[in-house]
Amino acid sequence: MCGIVGAVALHDISEILLEGINRLEYRGYDSAGLAVVGSRGHIQRIRCVGKVKTLIDAIAKNPISGGTGIAHTRWATHGEPTEQNAHPHISKYIAVVHNGIIENHQSLRSLLIDRGYEFTSETDSEVIAHLTHWEQEQFGGSLLEVVQRVIVQLKGTYGAVVMDSIHPELLVTARSGSPLVIGCGINANFIASDQLALLPVTRHFICLEEGDIATVTHHQVKIFDRDGTIVDRARIKVNMNYDAGDKGGYSHYMKKEIYEQPLAIKRTLEGRFRYGKINFSELDKKANALLSKVEHIQILACGTSYHAGMVARYWFESLSGLSCDVESASEFRYRKSASRKNSLVITLSQSGETADTLAALRLSKKNGYLGSLAICNVMSSSLLRDSDLALITKAGTEICVASTKAFTTQLTMLLMLVASMGRLHDMPIKLEQEIMQALQVLPARIEQMLLMDLDIKNIAKDFIDKQHVLFLGRGEFYPIAMEGSLKLKEISYIHAEAYAAGELKHGPLALIDPDIPVVVMAPKNNLLEKLKSNIEEVRARSGLLYIFSDKDAGFTDTAGMKIIPLPHAEEIIAPILYTVPLQLLAYHVALIKGTDVDQPRNLAKSVTVD
Ligand code: AGP
Ligand code: GLU
Repeated sequence: MCGIVGAVALHDISEILLEGINRLEYRGYDSAGLAVVGSRGHIQRIRCVGKVKTLIDAIAKNPISGGTGIAHTRWATHGEPTEQNAHPHISKYIAVVHNGIIENHQSLRSLLIDRGYEFTSETDSEVIAHLTHWEQEQFGGSLLEVVQRVIVQLKGTYGAVVMDSIHPELLVTARSGSPLVIGCGINANFIASDQLALLPVTRHFICLEEGDIATVTHHQVKIFDRDGTIVDRARIKVNMNYDAGDKGGYSHYMKKEIYEQPLAIKRTLEGRFRYGKINFSELDKKANALLSKVEHIQILACGTSYHAGMVARYWFESLSGLSCDVESASEFRYRKSASRKNSLVITLSQSGETADTLAALRLSKKNGYLGSLAICNVMSSSLLRDSDLALITKAGTEICVASTKAFTTQLTMLLMLVASMGRLHDMPIKLEQEIMQALQVLPARIEQMLLMDLDIKNIAKDFIDKQHVLFLGRGEFYPIAMEGSLKLKEISYIHAEAYAAGELKHGPLALIDPDIPVVVMAPKNNLLEKLKSNIEEVRARSGLLYIFSDKDAGFTDTAGMKIIPLPHAEEIIAPILYTVPLQLLAYHVALIKGTDVDQPRNLAKSVTVD
C-alpha cells in the first residue's frame, strides 16, 4: 500500500528520497515519482509507471537535485497506474504526495475546475494540490495555515506532504487515516510512511497521531493537533536492524521470513516463562483485573491475521473455557453488532495500520466492550496507540506482502494468552504447563518442518498448471487450510479455496475431479478417523489428494493419493507447525510460475485504505 518519503536538508536529498521509496517497495505499488525544489526555487519532478528502478534509471539520465523534496510509491485507487496519475501532483508552485482516499474528490474537482484549474490526472489526490494553491493565493498565510484550511475541506483518509517551491525550506505534513512518521536527522529532517524507509539516515522518530499536522524544516519539527494546539509527541529511538530491508542471502523476502520463524518465535517466547507460569509483565494488575472479568472474547482482524484469530477461537473455548467469536474487521465495522456482557475485543494485525481493523476497533469502543487488547508486530503502530492493552510479537520487520512469520508469531502469542487467561478462569495448572512445554519445543519443531522444504518443492510442480486447488482441514486445521489457500492464491494467482472437511459432502464434493488437487491437513488427533472418511469421499471420485499427515497416522502412497509425512508435532502446537509446509508449497509453486513472490500483483503489505 503506497509509500511516502519527504526530506528537508542543507544538502541534496534526491538519493535519500530514492533509497526511501526503494525500501518501501515491499508495501506494494504500481508507479512512483519524486519532486525536489532546486536552488533556483523551481520544482523538478520525475514520475514513472512500474518499479522504483525505472525511476532511478530515469533520474540517472536526467539528474535532479535539491535540499527539499517529496517522493511517493502509488497503489492506485482512483485512476489507472499511469505516469500522469503518479504522484507528486503539482499546482503551480505547490507539490503534494498523498496516501489514502479523498472521498469528496469529485465535488472538490468540480469546484476547482470552476475556479479555473486544469486537472492533468484522474486521481482524487490532485485536488489537494489545487486546493492548497487556491487557499494560498486567495487567503495567504503560512503554508501551515494554508494546509490547515485545506484539510478541513477534505473527507476521507490522508497521509500527505505538501511542498511549496516559493518557501522551499519547509514541508508541511498531515495525517488522518494513513500513518506517517518524522525522522529526526542532523541538519536534516524527514517524513515517511514507515521507519524502514529512513533507517539509512536516522534511528530517531516521532510518530504522528491521528489528526496531527507538522511543519518540518532541516533544523526544526513542530507538531499541532487537530485543534491547532502545538503538542509534544514522544521521540523514539528504534533498534530495527538496518538489514531489515535486505534479503540476507535468500532469493526472496518470503523465503527469508519463512526461515526466520524459529528465531522469531524464540524471540516472542523470550521472558514469557517465569515461576512455572506464562508471564506477561506488560499486563499490570489493572490489566489482569480487567482480564479476569472477561466472559467472552471478540476477535477482529483481516486476512492472515483473521485466520490466526480463527485458530485462537478453538483454543480459547477448548483450553481456557472462554466463549469466543472471530470476525473479519471489514465485515464487523459496517454492521450493527450486539456485544455480549463482559466481552474483550482482541485485534490481530502484523502492521497495526490496517484501516478495517482500526475502524472495527474504534466502532467496538462505542459498543460497551470491557476493553481492547492488540496483538501486533509493529511497536509504533496506530493499533497499539488505540488499544487499552497490547502484546508485541517479535517477528521483526516482515517485508513480503504474503504474511508468514507474523502469522506463526501471532499464534504463539495467542496460545500464551489463552493459557494466561485460562489461569484467570480456573484452567487446570497442568494444562498451562502442557502448553508451556509445547511452546518451548515449538522453535525446534519449526526447524524440523523446514527440513521438508525439498519434499515440498518436489510436489510443487504438480500444481503449476492447475486452475483450482481445494484445501481441507478439521477443527483448528480448518483455518490453517484457509491460510494455506490464501498463501497459494495470493502469490501464485491459482484459484484456491478452503473448506472444513466435514462440509465437503454439503456441496464442494461436486467440484472433485482428477484435475483439482485436494490438499488435506491430517494430523494424528481425535478427528483423524472422521477425516479419513472425507479422504475416501474424494478418492471414490478419482480426486487428486495431497495428504499432509503425521508420519504415524497410517497413510500410505496409493494411486491418486500423495502422502507428505511430517515430523512429529505436539497436538497443541500442531496447527502452527502445519502452516510451514503450506507456506513452502505456495512459495515453490509461485517460484516455478514466475510470479512476483514478494510483491504479488494488486496487493499491498499494509492495507491502509478501506
Ligand atoms: C496475508 O498474507 C496478506 N498479506 C493479508 O491478508 C494481510 O494478512 C491482511 O491485509 C492483514 O494485514 P495486518 O495483519 O497487517 O492487519
Ligand atoms: N488515492 C490516491 C491515488 O489513487 C493515492 C493512492 C495511494 O495511497 O497510493 O493516487
